[in-house]
Amino acid sequence: MSSNMRIMSEKPLNAETPVPSLRSWITANALFFDRNQGEIPEKAISLADWQLVIEGEVEKPLSFSFEQILRMPKAIAADTLECSGNSRSLLAEKASGNPWTIGGVGNAVWGGVWLRDILGRTKPKAKAKHAAFEGFDRPMGSAGVQFVRSIPMEKAISSTLLAYEMNGEPLPLKHGFPMRALALGWTGANCVKWLRRITLLEKPYEGFFMDKAYRVYQKGEDPKSGAVVTNIKLKSIITQPVRDETLPAGPVTILGAAYAGEAEIDRVEVSVDGGKTWSKAEFLGPHERYAWRQWQYVWDAKEKGDTTIMARATDTEGHQQPMDATWNVLGYGNNGIREHAVPVHIR
Ligand code: MTE
Repeated sequence: MSSNMRIMSEKPLNAETPVPSLRSWITANALFFDRNQGEIPEKAISLADWQLVIEGEVEKPLSFSFEQILRMPKAIAADTLECSGNSRSLLAEKASGNPWTIGGVGNAVWGGVWLRDILGRTKPKAKAKHAAFEGFDRPMGSAGVQFVRSIPMEKAISSTLLAYEMNGEPLPLKHGFPMRALALGWTGANCVKWLRRITLLEKPYEGFFMDKAYRVYQKGEDPKSGAVVTNIKLKSIITQPVRDETLPAGPVTILGAAYAGEAEIDRVEVSVDGGKTWSKAEFLGPHERYAWRQWQYVWDAKEKGDTTIMARATDTEGHQQPMDATWNVLGYGNNGIREHAVPVHIR
């Protein structure tokens, strides 16, 4: 792993991408954030020993070898993956969990097979409503249970990739070798790594990672009463300049990225006067359905002094990023404009 990563814990490995590495459309595999509940397998499983089992509410339970999967039609999709707790440490009120700044996000081009193609061969029953994914990483910590997450069948069928490649390379060990799920546009928790089994169920899977974690709830509430974290929220981040940077007066190139999960970014605007006026940023680079848009805005910083740069994203349905994030116990989905503002000093 690159030493540039900001490591929050070694066991399990939780590390974020350094801000300068968020400035390109593709995030390099070696610099892609790491989020683990369990232990990363020590070495890559032999592909001859690996199987993907599909069972539960299907007419025809099946297991697939890696070779069989490689023979199926290959699908390629760009997808920006964000940890549900990304930006948690930027919340004004502390929330529990890893202290992510903005680097719990990255974009990659993934290669694999559509889950619908795999499921199609097993003939799901009409009563199958959820698909539960199980990883084979060894559990750690208080939960002590396998990482299992389920998503609704509609999502599983419409836009879920089973990826065995990341940016043209075999899926790296720490990102789930040999195969991971990617519910495109949904947060990382819905994208199980080291996949070994998919079980179709009549209702959502019940277990620690469904009922206690990845729920949005307030103090005093039962976690299970809160909404499950699914779609990535509309958000923009500023990747240049960085917080508290000192810059000479004159043109300042402000860079950032904006993303919205399943929704599409329409525009990004920048304010350098505390939100009184906003100017439109220009998009850079590729435009793909589930991927972030990189953007830039050149600000003519004429006056010396301290300023805070803000960015706000709007999607094509007209939804705008909120000025302040909605706090919750586990600090999920922080997409506040104010929380992501970047103070700079013009000297
Ligand atoms: N899959 C397994 N098997 N075990 C895990 O701990 N963590 C999830 C998800 N899939 C996890 C997992 C979470 S919370 C996130 S944010 C993403 O993987 C992180 O993916 P990455 O480490 O490839 O960036």
